[in-house]
Amino acid sequence: MDTRIITIDGPAGAGKTTVSRMLSKKLGCVYVDTGALYRGVAYEIQKQGIDWEKDEILEIFLKHLDLNFVMEKDLLILISSGRDITNFIRTPEISMLASASSAKVQVRAALLDIQRNIAKIKDAIFEGRDMGTMVFPDAAHKFFLFADLSVRAKRRYDEMPDEIKDIKQVQEDMKIRDVNDSQRKTAPLMPAEDAIKIDSTFLTIEQVVEKMLKCINKA
Ligand code: DC
Repeated sequence: MDTRIITIDGPAGAGKTTVSRMLSKKLGCVYVDTGALYRGVAYEIQKQGIDWEKDEILEIFLKHLDLNFVMEKDLLILISSGRDITNFIRTPEISMLASASSAKVQVRAALLDIQRNIAKIKDAIFEGRDMGTMVFPDAAHKFFLFADLSVRAKRRYDEMPDEIKDIKQVQEDMKIRDVNDSQRKTAPLMPAEDAIKIDSTFLTIEQVVEKMLKCINKA
């Protein structure tokens, strides 16, 4: 691979997206939030009423899936069949459905090329669950970002619109997703052997980015 790829994996609410965005500005590269792709799949499943647990139905659905990213300033826009769906993919229902449907091997396979094609043409920071382990095992730098559940839930809660706020529910959903994402058979959430682990429980975003930059510049 001629491009420089940096991977950041970790559970929900660990700060991956904010860190990736800030780090990408400092390094002058793009960032790719791969969770948005899984959310895009979940959004379309929900909108089209797809019975995704049935393999034949899921496979037909995935054949017609047309997801891609457009970068506008420093924000990623998720396009599905020509339509901007960025603002519809952050609901608690879509979070849970993305976590459940991402365990399907067919879903992961369908999204693999989209991720690897971006990496072929651009230096990029990829954040997700299996970036360092499965999608980019040869990445130049790998990080695994984590934090205590209560802190992660509070961060997610603070980002939510008032009408769907319930801290207990946010924490409960996050716990279920942690289990789903780390215990599934295909590409479970876990640190790559050569990933640098960073606990962000007591760190600011700036401190996390600083740590990462030090590791990148030292290598
Ligand atoms: O990062 P996120 O919370 O937006 O991701 C939503 C779900 O998508 C997450 O619970 C699991 C799945 N996901 C995945 O399986 N692999 C990735 N690389 C990114 C996300």
